[in-house]
Amino acid sequence: MPGTCVIGLQWGDEAKGKIVDLLTQQHDVVVRYQGGANAGHTVMVGEEVYKLSLLPSGVLTPGVTCVIAGGVVLHPEKALQELDELSARQIEDFDNLKISDRVHVIYPWHLAEDRVLDKSTSDGENIGTTGRGIGPCYRDKVGRSYAIRLGDMYRDTFREQVQHNVGVKNEILQAMMGTKNFKPLHAEEIYTQYAAYAERLQPYVADTTDYLLTQAEAGRRILFEGAQGALLDVDHGTYPFVTSSNSSGVGVCNGSGLPARYINNVLGIVKAYSSRVGGGPFPTEQDNQIGQQIRDQGNEYGTVTKRPRRCGWLDAVAVRYTARLSGVDAISVMLLDVLSGLEEVKICTAYRLDGQESNRFPSHVDDLRRVEPVYETLPGWQEDLTQATNLADLPAPAMAYLQRVSELVGVPVAMVSVGPARSQTIALHELP
Ligand code: IMP
Repeated sequence: MPGTCVIGLQWGDEAKGKIVDLLTQQHDVVVRYQGGANAGHTVMVGEEVYKLSLLPSGVLTPGVTCVIAGGVVLHPEKALQELDELSARQIEDFDNLKISDRVHVIYPWHLAEDRVLDKSTSDGENIGTTGRGIGPCYRDKVGRSYAIRLGDMYRDTFREQVQHNVGVKNEILQAMMGTKNFKPLHAEEIYTQYAAYAERLQPYVADTTDYLLTQAEAGRRILFEGAQGALLDVDHGTYPFVTSSNSSGVGVCNGSGLPARYINNVLGIVKAYSSRVGGGPFPTEQDNQIGQQIRDQGNEYGTVTKRPRRCGWLDAVAVRYTARLSGVDAISVMLLDVLSGLEEVKICTAYRLDGQESNRFPSHVDDLRRVEPVYETLPGWQEDLTQATNLADLPAPAMAYLQRVSELVGVPVAMVSVGPARSQTIALHELP
């Protein structure tokens, strides 16, 4: 029974959606298990481009069951909007969508808190969240007293819960924003709006933990679709410049409710260079002409927020760390075509910190800020790679680059992607 995870090994935006879409056809169930509408998955089917935030990319494949598991934070309006957009484009096979009654729901106070409370860390640098209420919702989940799960919205106590929360949240928001900027939230309005969302979502609501356990026990093939990237993991990433969930491989079990025994393959997704949106250290950032060239060629602008992404060279120290952390068996190297046209390409192979060279990824953000990347320089290539369909089509320097990345990260390359279409993928070997 293969349970396969697709995990981004950098700061998100590694083009995981494309690989999940390709692998979906070999699976019975696709699961999203953490994050929320902060994620952006772009999937190209034929000439059609689909941009999804909350729904698993699997919804584009008929006959596959898609699960939004309990570890996700759900913005109901966004979920319904995506369902409506897909319906308008004749994708309507939603009988197979299941949303956990355990997911925590994002409310207007979470969005408001994201705007005022998450502006900066104590040292003044902005986290630069996506503004989708992710952190505040997870904070309430862990805090428990002001959390509302999807399952709560079908109970008689729902109205009371909203009233209770709005009272407290108004006080907090007023204190944070000051009386002048504060606009009070209205409990009854929110209750009515969310009761309507609950009604529309009801056909999809399920105990997905039990469902997934039953599927796994029956030997069905399950694909786990990670959101964001492992360097944004709240426990093991570049804290505090992270998201609020476990976005590395370690998050699969707690988010989905399935124990590790059902996971057999982990595929790490690595962009051929690095990018980051929002604040936080980024040792290999190229805030220069090279970075701009990568940004332009890779169209590195946020799917969710449209922000220009910070771009730089591939950081093999970081990726080796996240590949080990996520238990990766093989990697998929994405957007290799974007590096065409550079005279030379660089890979960071070690960090220099306080005069010492090391390939350990620092656990404290202050140390990561201070590291100096040690680069290996390889020859670039000029050829357009977007038509390559097998390895023999790649120029020798591109092959050498892949080979070196694989050696440095410590795992084989299973796939190479040279464009957004399903056909622009080179499969090197089967997943173990
Ligand atoms: P949040 O998840 O909205 O709280 O944002 C926290 C940090 O994670 C910010 O730096 C965001 O830019 C980043 N982030 C969140 N989701 C994604 C994603 O899907 N791709 C890339 N960065 C993300």
